[in-house]
Amino acid sequence: MSPTPRPESKVRVLLVDDDEDDYVVTRDLVANIPGRPIALDWVADYESALAAADRNEYQVYLIDYRLGARTGIELLFAMRERGCDRPVILLTGQSEFEIDLEAAAAGAADYLEKGRLDEVVLERSIRYAIKQHAQEAELERKVRERTAELAESNAKLREADRRKDEFLATLAHELRNPLAPILNAVEILRMQPQSPQAQGRIERQVAHLVRLIDDLLDASRVTRDKLSLTREPIDLREPLLMAVETSAPVIVAAGLTLDVQLPPDDVPLGVFGDRVRLAQLFTNLLNNAGKYTEAGGRITLAVETDGHAVTTRVTDTGLGIPAEMLEEVFSMFSQIDRTLNRAQGGLGIGLALARRVVDLHAGDIAASSPGTGHGSTFTVTLPAHG
Ligand SMILES: Nc1ncnc2c1ncn2[C@@H]1O[C@H](COP(=O)(O)OP(=O)(O)OP(=O)(O)O)[C@@H](O)[C@H]1O
Ligand SMILES: [Mg+2]
Repeated sequence: MSPTPRPESKVRVLLVDDDEDDYVVTRDLVANIPGRPIALDWVADYESALAAADRNEYQVYLIDYRLGARTGIELLFAMRERGCDRPVILLTGQSEFEIDLEAAAAGAADYLEKGRLDEVVLERSIRYAIKQHAQEAELERKVRERTAELAESNAKLREADRRKDEFLATLAHELRNPLAPILNAVEILRMQPQSPQAQGRIERQVAHLVRLIDDLLDASRVTRDKLSLTREPIDLREPLLMAVETSAPVIVAAGLTLDVQLPPDDVPLGVFGDRVRLAQLFTNLLNNAGKYTEAGGRITLAVETDGHAVTTRVTDTGLGIPAEMLEEVFSMFSQIDRTLNRAQGGLGIGLALARRVVDLHAGDIAASSPGTGHGSTFTVTLPAHG
């Protein structure tokens, strides 16, 4: 699009007319126009006019209807075809209603009768043509902008849709997985009704199914914005220790070391929080650290406060997270490597839920990692309270 001229600059107008006398008349009219100065150039034929339109030097074209063997309307169409969208004012020797209609249909900005032309009429026609062109250009710019926005949101929707499809496949697997061992155990119980191993297996697998479905319910609460908290003044040690109690056995069973670093007991870790949701949040972080770290690794849970905020870091020596995924892992159902997660279990809900819970506490959660294979740190910052 051509740049809008500065208000003080001259308006450049090209007259296309095969009659030099008419040019002289028009030039004299233009010279008498007060206010914003108009620079009028003149060409006498169709080809020169097209060449000028190609150079896009003029803001307005005054085109005579009769141009030798051609008409001004043909010229107008040719200019439009070549991408010139500048306003065109058509001039005729005498008013003809037919031509007037034709001009309007072709998209002329105005249609003026030479015989009745004076500086007032000409000035007004040029001014309106410029104004209307600017408005159309602005409208076009808005449409383009809006189209780009729509394309972007469309792409985002497709991506979310794809993630949901993948998630459905994962979900089916995750729900299916515990059923085989359960069926197996039932078979064993049929023959040995007292088998404690079979009973234990069923209990573990059913508990796992319950966890998955609870996660799923939480996920749907998060996506529908229906997750609600019960917040009260608490010491963050409470949910932290609940989480450690839940996760430590899993972590130790995976052959990992868990190192918990809390400030001395006399340092308050007060927050205004939901004990259960915060415990769930830290459990998710610890379980992730355990899931995505190979045996022999170390997990550290470290807490500190400066009196304004309480900062909790869960660091592991595991798989790490590529830089471009550090934000993405917090999206619902996103998992870095599904084939790998398939073996690890999980639905890609934990961190999305964690972020929502932290948001509802007016806090912040972020992931950092030196890169694949070099471990990760998840940092949760909550406002201190009391
Ligand atoms: N400590 C970590 N180290 C490396 N990758 C991690 C870590 N924590 C999370 N991730 C990556 O982020 C993804 C999303 O984690 P999230 O906890 O949301 O889901 P999940 O663990 O796959 O399933 P679940 O819903 O059971 O938690 C994981 O699949 C994993 O790829
Ligand atoms: Mg997880």
